[in-house]
Amino acid sequence: MINKIEFSNRLTDLRTKCGLSQNRLAEMLFISGQAISKWETGSSLPDIELLIPLAQILGVSVDCLIGNDISVIAEALTSYDTSDENIMLLTAMSDTLSREYLYKAAKYFEHDKLKYTMSLTLTAEKNVYTNEIDVKEMTAESLKPLSRHLSNLTLRAINESYNPVQEITDYMRCPNCGGNLVYIKEADCEYLMCDNNHRYDINEGVVDFKTLEMPGFTWSSWIRRYEDFKKNNSKYYNSELRDNDYKMCLDELRKDKPKLIIDIGTGMMGWASRMVRLIDWECVLVLTDLSHRILKYDKRYVDEVLSNPKVKVVYLACDVRNLPFKDNTVDNITSMGGFEAVIYDYVKAYKESVRVLKNNHKALFDITYINDRNSADSIKWLELIHNEGGDMKVYYNMIFDLKELAELIPSYGFSNHTLTVISDPIPPPDTDVFPYNDQISRWMGLAFVTAQK
Ligand SMILES: C[S@@+](CC[C@H](N)C(=O)[O-])C[C@H]1O[C@@H](n2cnc3c(N)ncnc32)[C@H](O)[C@@H]1O
Repeated sequence: MINKIEFSNRLTDLRTKCGLSQNRLAEMLFISGQAISKWETGSSLPDIELLIPLAQILGVSVDCLIGNDISVIAEALTSYDTSDENIMLLTAMSDTLSREYLYKAAKYFEHDKLKYTMSLTLTAEKNVYTNEIDVKEMTAESLKPLSRHLSNLTLRAINESYNPVQEITDYMRCPNCGGNLVYIKEADCEYLMCDNNHRYDINEGVVDFKTLEMPGFTWSSWIRRYEDFKKNNSKYYNSELRDNDYKMCLDELRKDKPKLIIDIGTGMMGWASRMVRLIDWECVLVLTDLSHRILKYDKRYVDEVLSNPKVKVVYLACDVRNLPFKDNTVDNITSMGGFEAVIYDYVKAYKESVRVLKNNHKALFDITYINDRNSADSIKWLELIHNEGGDMKVYYNMIFDLKELAELIPSYGFSNHTLTVISDPIPPPDTDVFPYNDQISRWMGLAFVTAQK
């Protein structure tokens, strides 16, 4: 039995320690702020399916969240051949690290492979004084507040030497010749190599299929440095609209709990990177983008801030019109704005996803739409865009109304689909100038599509 009052106090404490408002936490879980308020006043408890994402967001184990005694873990860890100080360190991490990783860390300790030091720096006027602290000398009590940091570093260290792409090479194929791919690790490099010796280096954890962004559509130029990326990422995807979209996708995914998911055109801190934290089943999530740099930043951010031991993330800098996967191998495709970003060749991107999907499996994507093409509002919008000319012309050809989409989606190879409207198009302005500059779809409706192969 979970004690509601104890739970409510623990939750408030953890939430405020993480610097999250009730509303922010509610947003991250895709639920209402009132639900959080009810949990924190002790009048209700979260649904069981929310416990794992909630614990992950707060950076603690579910055991810790619901108040289970963690000494069970310390007990289990004594079976490893390691010192009492190391067990104390592991126990300090047990709030924030999953059992799987805790035991992996214990194994590292057995072989003396982990050493934690803390550096304390004092700057006085122009002088800097530094003290190194051996974490092993600290007490269990003083280690507790460091749990999150210790766990995060440990997770990174354990994952560093391991790229999960090696778990899925059986499903992959060379995008150049279709040959089988194998993963090879040498002393100072790692890469994928095919039967015909096409080699794809893995740089900074991202498999580089050497794709380049299309001239005129260089998304990576929005952000030049990782620091800017970090600063801006929360601003980009904070709209309520997108959150509804994301929630639908996550709910849909939860029904099937797919083991191998490919996200199409992941972009910078897009849907898939954010979802890493909320997925609560074991899976491999493949993030794709033409730009190596975008994925490199995504990886860094996921590793530093969002990592989730349940989700193995593979980063492929590749062209989604020529996915490095064999036919009928993938359990699920997601794409939030990704298909539509292949403006110049989106039909090929859809068809390619259908090729790699297993039969009867689903693609989940959002899509923009207009109301009946012949309605007065649509005619006015289309006129405004047409008059803009320039780059707008490319976009112009991929504006569809719902009737047209109902015919188009099957033509990509899906056997059936459902389309749920998330928001309607807005009425046109009373001027002769298109009001949104290069943001072509700001006025259009948004729908969420579940399509089955
Ligand atoms: C709108 S952004 C993605 C948004 C993101 N999925 C989200 O959830 O917010 C589009 C991304 O698709 C990528 N892209 C465009 N064409 C592509 C292609 N042919 N193959 C792979 N990625 C592509 C771009 O580099 C860009 O980063």
